[in-house]
Amino acid sequence: MDLEPAIRTRRTHKVYGPEPVAPETVAELVELARWAPNHHLTNPWRFRLLGRSALERLKAIAEEAKPGSAAKLDRAPTLVAVTVKRSGDAGQDREDLLATGVAAYIVLLAAHARGLAGYWRTVPVLDSPAGRAALGIGDDEEAVGLLYLGRPRQEQRVPERAGVEEIFTELD
Ligand SMILES: Cc1cc2nc3c(=O)[nH]c(=O)nc-3n(C[C@H](O)[C@H](O)[C@H](O)COP(=O)(O)O)c2cc1C
Repeated sequence: MDLEPAIRTRRTHKVYGPEPVAPETVAELVELARWAPNHHLTNPWRFRLLGRSALERLKAIAEEAKPGSAAKLDRAPTLVAVTVKRSGDAGQDREDLLATGVAAYIVLLAAHARGLAGYWRTVPVLDSPAGRAALGIGDDEEAVGLLYLGRPRQEQRVPERAGVEEIFTELD
């Protein structure tokens, strides 16, 4: 798929087929993500493909924190947790977080280009000590999001976008 149609047609999916994405395919997506720009080449991103035990640990903690929320972690057959390394320097941490957002987007875009569906989800339980421990997120890391991946099951609504004239200004 060419880049421009891929950018335009990637959608957030919340319903997936049951087949997991092969770990080798996830590794290919991560290999692409590491080409994201990152200042001082800090390579701040970390990706964890959740296996069955990790998912069960996370679901138990999510359910305890908010009853009913564990089921949302079963929506996709494959989950990838994205975290960013923290340096303690506010300027670098800001750049590293932005770079990791770009890397996460590359995973979603490259998944879409392979015919896969994806979804970037903010999961508050990953900020809790128990949720972090469930995935082995270190003290020098911060959760950025959980990427859902799998086979698409339905067409997605195309969300409204602000027009170019609203968001773009040419300065003298
Ligand atoms: C940083 C970030 C966090 C997001 N977190 C959530 C989330 O927690 N729940 C959700 O439904 N969508 C979440 N999304 C997905 C957006 O809602 C989605 O991208 C937006 O609705 C546009 O739809 P599209 O991806 O199909 O273009 C998140 C997206 C980003 C970039």
